[in-house]
Formats: sequence, C-alpha cells, structure tokens
Amino acid sequence: MNVFVQPQIMSLVSEDTSSKIYLEKIRLLKQKIGKTPLVHIDTVNGSSIYAKLEYYNPLSHSVKDRPAVYMLEDAIKRGLVNSENATFVEASSGNLGIAYGRAGKFLGLKTLIVIPSVVGEKTFKRIQETGTSVEKTPDGYCPLRNERDGAIAKVKDMYLDDPNKIWLDQYSNENNYKAHLEGTGPEIWHQTEKRVSHIVLGVGTGGTLVGISRYLKAENPDIQSVAVQPQKGHHIQGLRNYSESLEPAIVRKNRDTIDHWIDVCDKDAFEATTELWRKGYFVGTSSGLNYFAAKQIAKQNRGSTVVTLFADTCLNSFKLIQDYVLGKSF
Ligand SMILES: Cc1ncc(COP(=O)(O)O)c(C=O)c1O
Repeated sequence: MNVFVQPQIMSLVSEDTSSKIYLEKIRLLKQKIGKTPLVHIDTVNGSSIYAKLEYYNPLSHSVKDRPAVYMLEDAIKRGLVNSENATFVEASSGNLGIAYGRAGKFLGLKTLIVIPSVVGEKTFKRIQETGTSVEKTPDGYCPLRNERDGAIAKVKDMYLDDPNKIWLDQYSNENNYKAHLEGTGPEIWHQTEKRVSHIVLGVGTGGTLVGISRYLKAENPDIQSVAVQPQKGHHIQGLRNYSESLEPAIVRKNRDTIDHWIDVCDKDAFEATTELWRKGYFVGTSSGLNYFAAKQIAKQNRGSTVVTLFADTCLNSFKLIQDYVLGKSF
C-alpha cells in the first residue's frame, strides 16, 4: 500500500483523515525500527558481555530512531499537528536530530533541530540532509548546570513565542523511555533467553536505561542496572554528566530503576572505542564508554550476563572522533 502523501495534499484532507495517514505511516516506520541484533562481544572473568547493535536502526543508524517515532506518534494521537505550518522543534547533539529529520520527511511534517555549535560540520550536514532545518547554539557537549543550557533554552523560547512550534522535549517526554520499555527491554529479555543479569549504559536523556531497566526489573527484580557517567567536560556525543549538566526529568522521576552509578573518563572510553573498531564494530564513542563499563561490571560479578548497547556508528560524530580518538589528544 502506498501511503505517501505530499504535505500540500495534506492540507486538502480533513484533520481526522490526515492524522490517520500519519499514524499509518508511523505504523510502517515502527515495523522497520528495533529488533536489532544482540551479539556476544567478550568473556571476562566467566561473565559474558553482549551488545545490542542499535546502529541497525534505519533512520539515524542510532538508538534514537526508537524514541523519535514514539514521541511523534503520541503527538499525532493527541492532535498536536493542527496546521500545515506545524513544526516539531527539538534540541539534539546529533542522533535524535537525524532520526527526527528523516521521520519528519517520511511523514510530511516539518522539523527544526537546534544543535550545539561544537558538533562537527559533517554531523551538521548529516542532519541537514534529512530535509530538516538546523540552527546552532554556542553550547558544549555538556552544558553547565547553572548556566543556560543553550540548545534547550532556545527551543523553549521558540516554542513559547510561536503557536506553530511543537516541542515534545526528549528530556522529560515519557514516550522516550516507553520506546525502550515496549521495545528494547523485551528484545533483550528474549534475546538473552531471560539470562540477562546486568544492564550497563551511558546516559543522556536517560530514556534508554530507564525504559530497559523498568521492563527487565518487572520480569526479574534481581537484575541490576548501572548508569554510566562520562567525566566532567567530556567529549562524548549524546551523553551528559549530571553533576555538571541538569539531570533530566526522566531520570529524576525514575531513580528507582537505577541501582549503581559508575564514572568512565574520556581516555578509557576512547581506547575502548578503538578496541571495538579492531573487532570490526565501527561505532561511536558512547559505545566505547559502554564497553569499558560493561567489562568492569563483568569483572566484579563473576559468571554474570552483562548487556550493553552500541548506540550509533562512528559516522554520526565524525569530527569528534577525528579530533579526539584518531588524533589521540586525550
Ligand atoms: C550515541 C548516543 N549514545 C547514548 C545516548 C544516550 O541515550 P539516552 O538519551 O536514552 O540516555 C545517546 C543519546 O542521544 C546517543 O546519541
């Protein structure tokens, strides 16, 4: 069935019909997203380490396809798209921006992404090529706690000033973690044949860890969840250090889903990233951080089944990898 309808045509059909068309297209997108492979990466101290290869997702080649589509689906169901000028705005350091842009193009919806200017030109272009509008703010990767978190503040200002802007806020939107509660969590449970004992993940919005952990703990309350924090002033796209950046509402309201917190510095994360490249996984640096942390947890818990995620490919944060990993300035 061909459900592609151009935005101009959208304006000629009734609101009810257009939201049915959007939802049908979302259903098609959801069929393509998720169900990513889980692979055995390493054995350490009798413990097995597995990684879920989230770069198999089709829109952004990252884990962010999952929350992007869930958030848009919920907004359409709530009737938020009520004019042809409706534009979804969101702050992102890359991956959500790419996922949002591609999903928006497929659905025939406008999107606008605000990214920190520290994000490299290639990533900027990668977002722009999806067809979305992109604006930059002077933020770093981890905006300071008591100063303006520029990208989020800019989106908020635009949203408040313009009735056509729709801000779903990935940092507080429950549909962000619901995507993992209904998707990634059950997938891990079944792919490990219920053997998973630890879930270990770096956190940005926290949606991935909160959603997976909420699902796994309902299946087996003994499963331990470990949140990994990058160092202060880190250079890992997509992650946040909560002692210097605001802790997102998703994490604040779901602290009970997290049992342990560990820190990993850039140097260890970058070295682990190059180790993964040598194994044939061309992933971004958050995957290196996850792999390093997973090995620590595996060492401390003999005979465990540790699951982590490789969230994206190295192409999504190319400049950063060029400067800090290949350039070895860490
Ligand atoms: C590469 C990468 N790793 C990890 C994360 C963290 O995921 P979450 O925001 O669900 O905590 C993100 C989020 O953008 C990301 O882009």
